[in-house]
Amino acid sequence: MTSKPRILLLTAFLSWLAMACEKKEFEGSDYNPTPVAFTTPPGWPAPVYNFAENPLTEQGIELGRQLFYDGRLSKDGNFPCASCHQQPAAFGTFEHDLSHGFNNSHTLRNAPPLQNLAWIREFHHDGGITHLDLQPLAPITNPEEMAETIDNVLNKLRADAQYRQLFKAAFGSEEINTQRMTRALSQFMLTMVSANSKYDKVKRGEATFNLPESLGYDIFKAKCASCHTEPLFTDLSYRNAGLSMDNVLRDHGRMRITRNPADSLKFRVPSLRNVMKSSYYGHDGRFFDILNVLNHYSDGVVNGPTTDPLLRNKIPLSNFEKGQLIAFLGTLTDSSFLTNKKFAQP
Ligand code: HEC
Ligand code: HEC
Repeated sequence: MTSKPRILLLTAFLSWLAMACEKKEFEGSDYNPTPVAFTTPPGWPAPVYNFAENPLTEQGIELGRQLFYDGRLSKDGNFPCASCHQQPAAFGTFEHDLSHGFNNSHTLRNAPPLQNLAWIREFHHDGGITHLDLQPLAPITNPEEMAETIDNVLNKLRADAQYRQLFKAAFGSEEINTQRMTRALSQFMLTMVSANSKYDKVKRGEATFNLPESLGYDIFKAKCASCHTEPLFTDLSYRNAGLSMDNVLRDHGRMRITRNPADSLKFRVPSLRNVMKSSYYGHDGRFFDILNVLNHYSDGVVNGPTTDPLLRNKIPLSNFEKGQLIAFLGTLTDSSFLTNKKFAQP
């Protein structure tokens, strides 16, 4: 025998030994979370979230759900994540332009629906947060949202025996730290996939559009889909859709992050999934209903230096076409998502 096969044999034996030991250790402990597979709906791109770093488990998702609905993540106990991110509004704030936060304050922007987050790389209307796991730190510490410190939150959770058990079940020990808390929140939010609207059923051959819906879909593909691209109904780019700047809020959008004047007044193209349930609209919620938004595109676009070239001449739409577009947008409502008990308050 030459030395090469011997070395191979030895490595095989050693790795077997390592596996055997690992298995024994695993059997001896009660850390045994149940893996959850993340499925990509047919025809969708691959998700961008790195699941290898934070694998989904039933225990991690359940912990995330408890945290999402827990007021103790806020200073006075009144502002859990779910106070602004409400399930019947696709986890946006129901019929609000800006959301209410701590001490009667208001957020700068309209709370976006939370759905299909596994496909998003940059969060917030301006893309200022570049990892889903970092996202919760912003609202928890923002004085206009939850107004709490991370240390206080962690100490409140550590004092609760039930949370110590939940963290142990999800991550293997009772230790409660920032990374575990944010990873559990991410796990829960990543399961919020909306892909079962009438539109999706039509795509899967399980339903058919009625006439107004199908005429609306044709208009949509011709006039809207270059930015609100299927299947996510956003191309995730930043654009100035011709909304004039609000002189009180003075929100320059993407430019706040990049400091580049070419990005002034640009905001991430929002998804239109569940759009009929998530009013108000626009980054500051200035449009009260969907017809207001369509009237903006047909008549209200303001041309400034960064207004998107596709909108400079507005989007001509007759009243008839607006009605058909609204019929189509209604097919993006996914009631199984809006009422799924898995996402509801525990
Ligand atoms: C007081 C209301 C409020 C509370 C409480 C709140 N949020 Fe938000 N959330 C917002 C607003 C407003 C935005 C948009 C911020 C922006 O664009 O600057 C947002 C954005 C987000 C986003 C980004 C979505 C996207 O598509 O980019 C996620 C994810 C999110 N919030 C999760 C959470 C979690 C998790 C919690 C609890 C730890 C939480 N939020 C608490 C109002 C709130
Ligand atoms: C040039 C790209 C572009 C085109 C074309 C476009 N949109 Fe938009 N749309 C945007 C951007 C960017 C926003 C966010 C604007 C903001 O918040 O300042 C937006 C916002 C919206 C909103 C508000 C959603 C929310 O949750 O706040 C709706 C509804 C909407 N668009 C529908 C349409 C329809 C219908 C069409 C076709 C008639 C269309 N859009 C064409 C880029 C575009």
